[in-house]
Amino acid sequence: MRVITLSINGQKHSRAVPPSTTLVDYIREELNLTGTKKGCDLGECGCCTVLVDGQPLLSCLTLAADMEKKEITTIEGIADGAKLHPVQEAFVEHGALQCGYCTPAMILNAVSLLENNPKPCRKEIKECVSGTICRCTGYTKIEEAIEAAAAKNGGGGA
Ligand code: FES
Ligand code: FES
Repeated sequence: MRVITLSINGQKHSRAVPPSTTLVDYIREELNLTGTKKGCDLGECGCCTVLVDGQPLLSCLTLAADMEKKEITTIEGIADGAKLHPVQEAFVEHGALQCGYCTPAMILNAVSLLENNPKPCRKEIKECVSGTICRCTGYTKIEEAIEAAAAKNGGGGA
């Protein structure tokens, strides 16, 4: 066992875990932040995406021990208290989810995209969501929601 201290959603957490613990297991099993999903556990489905220093990263392929100096953001960390993040609001308004399993990853990818590129074109939005597999909704509503969130910020392209 090794004590690993991570900063997640602005709070420090310390847990004694096996050194081989992945970030997704640390987040879900140790902290009970179950918004981060575990699908394939092989780096293929994208459901386990979190933001590390603002960039999307697959938490199933990442050792928790390698993240000690980073700032990690999960889906639980993007709302402002009871107020949803604009991307979350847009997903609700556009019905951009069904079972919701892919949704945290889709939203975090979109949050990162819009922070780096407030006016993405549809092609850039498609690329942004292409690494996450959605088995139910299809991608059209998800892309429309991200476009709408961009438009609210004065961005959004054709
Ligand atoms: S659970 Fe990480 S990519 Fe599928
Ligand atoms: S909403 Fe079910 S996997 Fe995307």
